[in-house]
Amino acid sequence: MWIKKIVSASELIDAAFEARKNSYAPYSNYRVGACVLCENDRMYQGCNIENASYGATNCAERTAVFKAVSEGNKKITAVAIVGGRDDEENEMSDYAFPCGVCRQVLREFSVPSELQVIVARSRTDYRTYTLEELLPQSFGPEKLG
Ligand code: THU
Repeated sequence: MWIKKIVSASELIDAAFEARKNSYAPYSNYRVGACVLCENDRMYQGCNIENASYGATNCAERTAVFKAVSEGNKKITAVAIVGGRDDEENEMSDYAFPCGVCRQVLREFSVPSELQVIVARSRTDYRTYTLEELLPQSFGPEKLG
């Protein structure tokens, strides 16, 4: 349990596992699910969506962030991520850390020292970092304000 009172880490992880089931990853066979928690406790799930062009692929984290923002929620307080090969289901062999582009997108819609990034292997085996730890000395919107 952490930061927000109502939504627990395991609840977010559950939602990320659920989202992972919708992953479309016929090229990499690496399936990712994510769930972001917004300031108002609303949750948005996302999965990776690959493309035959490869370059048009969207990561699970960005799918979730873009869903939140497009629904009017621009303040993200936590994100849970699960990723692993096709044949992995309830327990991943490793923690799936967000890629650099996803870290920067999360940066845009969070306070880096407060955003909890939860990388999970299972519902009970997870690690929590702040975005600031994963993206130190970052560039963000306030630099342009
Ligand atoms: N992927 C994510 O969904 N999130 C990340 O942070 C890293 C990578 C996806 C993209 C692609 O569909 C697959 O994992 C292999 O790179």
